[in-house]
Amino acid sequence: MKVTVVGAGAVGASCAEYIAIKNFASEVVLLDIKEGYAEGKAMDLMQCASLNGFDTKITGVTNDYSKTAGSDIAVITSGIPRKPGMTREELIGINAGIVKTVSASLIEHSPNVIMIVVSNPMDTMTYLVHKTTSLPKNKIIGMGGALDSARFKYRLAEAMEAPISDIDGMVIGGHSDKGMVPLSSHATRNSINVSEYLSEDRLQQVVEATKVGGATLTKLLGTSAWYAPGAAVSGLVQAIACDQKKMFPCSTYLEGEYGLNDICIGVPVILGKNGIEKIVDVPLSDAEKAKMQESATGVSKTNGLLDL
Ligand code: LAC
Repeated sequence: MKVTVVGAGAVGASCAEYIAIKNFASEVVLLDIKEGYAEGKAMDLMQCASLNGFDTKITGVTNDYSKTAGSDIAVITSGIPRKPGMTREELIGINAGIVKTVSASLIEHSPNVIMIVVSNPMDTMTYLVHKTTSLPKNKIIGMGGALDSARFKYRLAEAMEAPISDIDGMVIGGHSDKGMVPLSSHATRNSINVSEYLSEDRLQQVVEATKVGGATLTKLLGTSAWYAPGAAVSGLVQAIACDQKKMFPCSTYLEGEYGLNDICIGVPVILGKNGIEKIVDVPLSDAEKAKMQESATGVSKTNGLLDL
């Protein structure tokens, strides 16, 4: 199993680290445009191998896509991250050009690759890959919902003073401050709905804190987060590499599912060796349906800014 991670910045390096630590991939190629940078990160990570007990071989390359040839999975993290006060949507101008070039170069050397898009605005970048490459839709996966769901579970656990392992919950919709739809109606602590433990007001606070999860970190860190994004990507990569058939909310191209068409947006999917093997239809309350529709309107508006 060969995995390429494009972009050796904080998110890309975290992805490579978590993938390696989980020890399921034989090879991770880290690629960056900055001379020597990916090589340096890869060497530093490889010097963790004996300490952390992994055999995954991590190599770094400067913009040489021939070294990514035969990748089973590629993760695109390249582009600029947001700064405090910026929305993900504001990154579209620069990142669209980068994602278009990177996806084409990856496919040239790995025509059967399964692509995971992380660059923001993520749903629109996923749509861009769908529109500008010949990859089938099951092989184009946007990472947002897995991260947003992890942040939702963190906030739920915090509010209930419960261990996170007791909590289950999912966030669908667009990966944006306004567009996320945390599914409170389905969130549970040990299969008991969270509304049994939290007042409506407290649950609403959890939902709002979840939606601005990325912005909160950007304000604290001065740039966007990397540990949880890296961990979320590694979860998706592992589900595909190990054919786990696990369910994650991911951004995928919809053709009528959830009443939406010609859009990539977060919905629950089953991930296995073929990438997205199924889109799961989860029953939504009327309020959640309305929020999903509103979220889709926002994503479509951003898609309209693409030069397709
Ligand atoms: C975040 C970025 C990865 O939410 O979109 O932290």
